[in-house]
Amino acid sequence: MCGIVGYTGRQPAVPVILEGLRRLEYRGYDSAGICTMNGHGAEMLRCEGKLANLERLLTETPLGGTIGIGHTRWATHGRPSEKNAHPHRAGEVFVVHNGIIENHRELKEKLERLGHSFRSDTDTEVISHLIEHNMKLGSDFETAVRESLRELRGAYALCILCEGMPGTLIAARNGSPLVVGLGEREFLVASDIPALLSHTRRVVFLDDGEVALFCDGEASLTRIDGRPVAKEPTTIDWTPVMAEKGGFRHFMLKEIFEQPRAIADTIAGQVFEEEGAVFLDELKMTDDELAQVSRVVIVACGTSWHAGLVGKFLLEDLCRLPVEVEIASEYRYRNPVVGEESLVLAISQSGETADTLAALREAKLRGARTATICNVVGSSIAREAHGVIYTHAGPEIGVASTKAFVTQLAALHLLAIRLGRTVGTISREKGRELIGSLVKLPGLVEETLRIAPVVEAVARGCHHARDFLYLGRGSCYPVALEGALKLKEISYIHAEGYPAGEMKHGPIALIDEQMPVVVLAPRNAHYEKTISNMEEVIARGGRVIAVATEGDDTLVAKAEIMLEIPEAPPELLPILATVPLQLLAYHVAVLRGNDVDQPRNLAKSVTVE
Ligand code: F6R
Repeated sequence: MCGIVGYTGRQPAVPVILEGLRRLEYRGYDSAGICTMNGHGAEMLRCEGKLANLERLLTETPLGGTIGIGHTRWATHGRPSEKNAHPHRAGEVFVVHNGIIENHRELKEKLERLGHSFRSDTDTEVISHLIEHNMKLGSDFETAVRESLRELRGAYALCILCEGMPGTLIAARNGSPLVVGLGEREFLVASDIPALLSHTRRVVFLDDGEVALFCDGEASLTRIDGRPVAKEPTTIDWTPVMAEKGGFRHFMLKEIFEQPRAIADTIAGQVFEEEGAVFLDELKMTDDELAQVSRVVIVACGTSWHAGLVGKFLLEDLCRLPVEVEIASEYRYRNPVVGEESLVLAISQSGETADTLAALREAKLRGARTATICNVVGSSIAREAHGVIYTHAGPEIGVASTKAFVTQLAALHLLAIRLGRTVGTISREKGRELIGSLVKLPGLVEETLRIAPVVEAVARGCHHARDFLYLGRGSCYPVALEGALKLKEISYIHAEGYPAGEMKHGPIALIDEQMPVVVLAPRNAHYEKTISNMEEVIARGGRVIAVATEGDDTLVAKAEIMLEIPEAPPELLPILATVPLQLLAYHVAVLRGNDVDQPRNLAKSVTVE
C-alpha cells in the first residue's frame, strides 16, 4: 500500500533510498519517485511503472545530495502515471505519502479558492499545498507542517522536505505505519522494517499523532502539538539476508521453501513437551484470565482469515469453546456483540492491515480481551493488542502470503493447546501427544516439499485452464479457499474454493472436461465423504487433481493426478495440504509468464480500508 523512504545522513541519499524502495516494492509498484536536496536546491524524478524505470531515469539524470525522500506507489486516487507519482510538490514543499486523506476534496476546494493550482488527481497533493499555504501565512516549515497535520482527516505516513530548509526532513504518522532507523548521525524513515535492515537494526516505531524531525544529524520526536515523546529504540532480530532471494528465482518460492524453518522458529521455546504444556508468555494472560474466556472471535483478512477458519476447527475441537471467524472489513462496520467474556484474536502477517486494526480497536472499545497472531514485532496491531503470539516467519516479501499462513496455523495450535490445558479439555497426556506431533511438523513440511518437481509437471498440464475449482471438507475447506486465492492472485485464473459437500448445490453446474478440480482428500474423518464428492466430479467429466495421503491406492485409481502428502495426525493435515497448492499456484503463474512476486493490482500490507 505504497512504500515511503526518507534519508538524511552523510551518505549519498539516492542509493540508500533506492535500496529501501526496492525492499518496499511489495507494497505497491505502479509508479515511483524520488527527491533529493543538494547545493542547488531540490531535484525530483518520477515515472510510471516499477522502480526499475526510476532507476533507469536516475542513470540518465543522477541526483546528488545526502538528504531525500522516495516513494513506490499503489494507486488509490488517480491512475498510475507520472503526474500522479509521488513526491508531490507545491512551491518549496515536497511530500511522499502512504494512506488516504479523506477530506482532500474540501481542502482542495479551499486551496483552489486561495489560488493554488493542482497538477495531479491524487489526495496527497493537498498536503504539499496546505503546508505551502501555511508557510505563506508566515509559519516556519516545522510549524506549517504541524498546522497542516491538524487539518488532515484520514490516514497518513509522510516524509516531507522543504527547499528553503535543505538540512531538514520531517516525518509524521497517523494510521499508516512508519518506522525510524537510527544510525550514527544518520536516520532512515520507512514504511516497513526491511527497508532499514542493511543500515541498522535499531529502530523506533512511530505512533499515531507523532512527528519526527531530523535536522543536521539530530532527531526529535514529538506529538503534533509539539509535546516531546520519549521512546526507547527496539532492536530487530531480522537480518538483511532474510530479505534476499537467496538463489531462488522468486521470493515466493524461497518463502515456500522456508516454511519448515519458519514453523520451527514459531514453536521454538514455547513448548514443554514432557508436561504437555505451552508457554506463550507474550499473550500476557494468566491461567485464571484464560479460564474466564467463554468465546473466541477471530478477525482477519484474506489469507489470515483462512488461517482463522482453520483455527476455528482447532479451538472448537480441542478447547470446546465457541469460535466465530469474522472478515475484519465487515466486522468493523457491524454492531458486533462482544464484551469482556470474549477473547478477540486478530490474525495479521503485517500487523498493519487497516481493517484488522480497526476491528481490534472496536472489540477493545467494547471491553473484550484482545490478542494477535502477528509476524511483525512493533507493528500497530502487535502494539495495540493486549497480548501477542509472534509467528517467526521472518520478512515475507512475496505479495502472495505463504510462510505467514503456515506459521499462523502453528501459532493457532500453540494457542489451542495452552487454552485447552487451562480450561481442562486437554489432559497432560493429550497435550504431550499434540506437542509431540507439532514438533515433528517442520520435518513433515520438509518431506511434503519434495513434491515440487511433480507439481511443476502438473502445472504444465493445466496452466491454460480458464477456471479452477478447489474442494475440501472440514478443516480442509479453508485450505481449498486458500488454494483458490493463491491461484487467483498470481496466475489471474478464476478459481473458487468450496466446501465439497456444498458443490452439488450449485457449482457442480460448472464442471466440464476443461475444468481442473482440486480435491483435498487426505485420510481424515471426512475422507469417505470427500471421495463421494470427487466421484460426482469425475462422473461429469471433471479433471481431478487430488491432494491425498501418500500410498492411497483408492485415489490413484480414481483421480487424474495425485499430489501426495505424508501421513500425519489429522490436525496437521491442513498445513501439509497447503504446500502443494502454493506450489501449484506458483508454477502455473510462472508458466503464464506472470510477475509472481508483484502480481498486478495487488500490494502487501493493506493500510487503506
Ligand atoms: C494473500 C494475502 C492477503 C493478506 C491480507 C491480510 O496472499 O497476502 O490476502 O493475507 O491482505 O494481510 P495481513 O495478514 O498482513 O493482515
